Amino acid sequence: MSVRAGREFLAIPGPTTVPDEVLRAMHRPAVDIYSGPLLALTDSLLRDVARVFNTKGHAYIYIANGHGAWEATLTNVLSKGDKILVLESGRFAIGWGDNARRMGVDVEVLKGDMRRAERPAEVEARLKADKDGTIKAVLVAQIDTASGVVNDIAAIGKAMRAAKHDALLMVDAVASLGCMPFEMDAWGVDVAMSGSQKGMMTPPGLGFVVANDRAREVHKKAELRTPYWDWTEREGAQHYQKYAGTPPEHLLFGLRQALDMLFEEGLDNVHRRHRLLAEAVRRAVGVWSEGQAIGFNIIEQAERSDSVTCVLTNGHDPEALRAYCNKQCGVILGHGIGDLSGKAFRVAHMGHVNAPMILGTLSVIEMSLNALGVPHGKGGAQAAIDWLGEQVKAWSL
Ligand SMILES: Cc1ncc(COP(=O)(O)O)c(C=O)c1O
Repeated sequence: MSVRAGREFLAIPGPTTVPDEVLRAMHRPAVDIYSGPLLALTDSLLRDVARVFNTKGHAYIYIANGHGAWEATLTNVLSKGDKILVLESGRFAIGWGDNARRMGVDVEVLKGDMRRAERPAEVEARLKADKDGTIKAVLVAQIDTASGVVNDIAAIGKAMRAAKHDALLMVDAVASLGCMPFEMDAWGVDVAMSGSQKGMMTPPGLGFVVANDRAREVHKKAELRTPYWDWTEREGAQHYQKYAGTPPEHLLFGLRQALDMLFEEGLDNVHRRHRLLAEAVRRAVGVWSEGQAIGFNIIEQAERSDSVTCVLTNGHDPEALRAYCNKQCGVILGHGIGDLSGKAFRVAHMGHVNAPMILGTLSVIEMSLNALGVPHGKGGAQAAIDWLGEQVKAWSL
């Protein structure tokens, strides 16, 4: 007997649930690409993408996923043979670095692991040792979607300044933009990138890049530049140049709606909602862990991200749990990826999520733990309810 019917709930860490308002905003005829409202739309989007990153720098919108936006960042500031330092804390910064290697960039990885955040002191020490300034850029993911870690970008920026090193700080905010604060200018980030399909609540297909003046200066000498990604081309006067061709109109209409929704809720409130729902998930996982089988991938509490939680299943098959949640209840959990394949599942709490979605997901996971006989502490979903109930007070009448 299954209780799966109606709308399934996608609890994977991207793409995330697209709000009906965003879907509706996209459901319209195409418009002229040379005149009319699309021109003003582009101006407003470039301004507001920069606003979400908290930068006075320049924004670029690509028809691309995160991999494309990675390529945009690399080609615009690097040359063949340049050396970069990739901070390992999971899988995604490594993937970004691999792309750079394939373009002829010399990539050094500052060793980390899947279970912890970057140590800014290690970054500082490595940069201090680079006396000739051969390292041109430092690459790091704010949240690694595979491990569920959150890196302290402010502290890494501070460490780079303490090392008095000129390398550009380049940050992957794919799994964090729209979910937690990103203070590009205040943290000393030179280039940042993200995508439309997670915290930005828009279908996959738009890549965002923001660059400050320092990065745009370095860009002038970059030799990996190619016509499609090139910032200079995209800064041209014609609207057509902003997308290096036909604009992705419908995705742009969707993005406009998503940004309006984020601003209407207020970015601080959006971040607070993510923090509360993430903590509800952590409360549940904490209780389940008492059974000795379930556990957090990220060891330190403060290093667990507010957009995705990676849960280890220690010898029990996470795919059986995922299959139960999906087939019996219509909840689709993320699977473990990379080194955690077959060892973990992931619960997304990013983007267009609310209490019933998260509490429902937790309840379904607890059902699956019971049904499959995975040892666990009882009452994880209840702990999440209790904690959220304490945070979200009743209206005073
Ligand atoms: C942190 C992070 N960076 C980059 C990417 C790559 O993005 P895409 O799959 O859109 O190419 C992902 C995808 O999940 C991600 O989570």
